[in-house]
Amino acid sequence: MERTFVMIKPDGVERGLVGEIISRIENKGLKLIQLKLIFASPDILENHYMEHRNKPFFKDLVDSMKDKPVLAMVVEGENSIKLMRIMVGDKDPLCALPGTIRGDYAIETTKNLIHASDSRESAVREITIWFGDIL
Ligand code: CDP
Ligand code: MG
Repeated sequence: MERTFVMIKPDGVERGLVGEIISRIENKGLKLIQLKLIFASPDILENHYMEHRNKPFFKDLVDSMKDKPVLAMVVEGENSIKLMRIMVGDKDPLCALPGTIRGDYAIETTKNLIHASDSRESAVREITIWFGDIL
């Protein structure tokens, strides 16, 4: 059974969208197997967003999320990685389709509510960063 890492970012927690987003995941038929609300440290965020470390938005991204509550989850189900990416929608809310989480609730790329792993390799890496060696 495939597992993926999903995080509701600080803007999603702050806007009270945790229940709505979790409902969508459960209604889809995917299963929550780990879930925790934690204050994201700069270290964990820098590690999580490692692939973007040389991008111009990297510092602002980490700064805007650090020391704020995020909801970290492990989601399980057949094709959960691809399914969650489809449900999340494009990172740019101008491109995110209605019916996706970002398409329905976000208007800014910097506050696009949610993260989901983009590959099996990322999922394993990110689950380990946020939850340790639970696989
Ligand atoms: O989150 P996703 O995998 O869809 O997109 P990404 O390209 O891996 O970018 C990671 C995150 O960086 C995005 O979700 C945005 O929050 C942020 N970002 C940004 O603030 N400005 C950009 N130009 C691109 C990404
Ligand atoms: Mg990404």
